[in-house]
Amino acid sequence: MTAKPSIIIAVDGPAASGKGTLARRLAAHFDYAYLDTGALYRAVAHHILQRGDDPGNAETGLRAAQELDVTQLQNPDIQTALRTSAVGTAASIVAAQADTRAAILQIQRDIADTPPDAKAGAVLDGRDIGTIVCPKAPHKIFVTARTEIRADRRWQELCASDPLVKREDVLADLEARDRRDRERATAPMRAAEDAHLLDTSDLSIEEAFVAALALVSH
Ligand code: CDP
Repeated sequence: MTAKPSIIIAVDGPAASGKGTLARRLAAHFDYAYLDTGALYRAVAHHILQRGDDPGNAETGLRAAQELDVTQLQNPDIQTALRTSAVGTAASIVAAQADTRAAILQIQRDIADTPPDAKAGAVLDGRDIGTIVCPKAPHKIFVTARTEIRADRRWQELCASDPLVKREDVLADLEARDRRDRERATAPMRAAEDAHLLDTSDLSIEEAFVAALALVSH
């Protein structure tokens, strides 16, 4: 008897759109595995920055992606280190490198197709899940929110660890990252044709979750 195919929910969208919170809630609701694919790019970038290497060097990016140890992502200290703004910016630089992306692609597909702990499905969040990583996913949501709102959310998040961080710097960084993610040649951030759009600008976390649940339940 062949195993039932994993049920995949693809959640894509720009920085601080609310996709991570939403994806985590959906995974908990359905008892599916959850994969934050941005953490993979962030981990590669963090590794490069720690060694004092240049994130813009494609060979360095590929090597770091090949050496990526996904088990380390469970470590709370690593998770905190990955969330800094410097790592986010470096992540979007390495994410534009075709070979680096190719090295990370299979890790994502393996988790989507064979979720850990024999879960029946997986929720993946990122930029290209519905278009490239899992184009056949039966459920796809592209989460958006107005830029000012996203900048405010990210600013508040970063203020928790660095009270001196400036809102205008966060906004400029977010806009630069959006541009890089949208305009890169390989796997640019965009909504799949069959994705549902969900604008969370004026929704609470609970309201966004209820709306997302309705989108994946029909
Ligand atoms: O949390 P936030 O939305 O700010 O970013 P993230 O999801 O952690 O992703 C960090 C960076 O990794 C993004 O700016 C993208 O450049 C890249 N990324 C990507 O290219 N493809 C993905 N599937 C996920 C992230």
